[in-house]
Amino acid sequence: MPIISPSILAADFANLQRDVEMLNNSNADWIHIDIMDGVFVPNISFGIPVTKAINKHASKPLDVHLMIENPENYVEQFKKAGAEYISVHYEACKHLHRNLQQIKSLDCKAGVAINPHTNVSLLEDTINEIDLVCVMSVNPGFGGQKFIENTYAKVSKLKEIILKNNASTLIEIDGGVNAENARPLLDAGADALVAGSFVFNSSNPTDTIQMLKSV
Ligand code: DX5
Ligand code: ZN
Repeated sequence: MPIISPSILAADFANLQRDVEMLNNSNADWIHIDIMDGVFVPNISFGIPVTKAINKHASKPLDVHLMIENPENYVEQFKKAGAEYISVHYEACKHLHRNLQQIKSLDCKAGVAINPHTNVSLLEDTINEIDLVCVMSVNPGFGGQKFIENTYAKVSKLKEIILKNNASTLIEIDGGVNAENARPLLDAGADALVAGSFVFNSSNPTDTIQMLKSV
């Protein structure tokens, strides 16, 4: 069964406690936290105090996706705010190997997110250091965008790299995930699915999470 990580970006920010409690009582596995700095991506979401506030109510692991420049300056604060998984962007890291070591030294799971234009082969030399690859299936910055079809090919290729290197890396898909693409993504090798608008814009988010869990 896939890991389901609903993205809080699509929640009602004026009712975060209510929405986090809904996730606590659902079959969601993780809670996906999208951090945008207005520099790495053309949008600003929220930061450390809001992550802390979410963590105060959350009973599930926080899966923090840092869409920010210089992530090394902030990972420790996100760990303190409750992060269990911290993903940095490949495109934002000059010294990715060092970033991964830093995240692990904080006792967090180390993730790497890759933009749609970034070839998965670029991760081959660090794959054994990576706990989670977050494959962006939209251009990061906004919820509610259309899923990019080339993602299937990327996931299959990444899965091959993971198997070839005997790595235990999980593959997460982020952006435009819905009931139609969930099954083919899992068949291609995905382990975890992020879903924002598909969950929170549905009439019954709890049922929608269960539907994704059992596709
Ligand atoms: C996009 C974010 C995603 C986003 C997904 O920059 O990283 O996590 O919240 O939202 P949907 O599922 O609406 O594409
Ligand atoms: Zn995300």
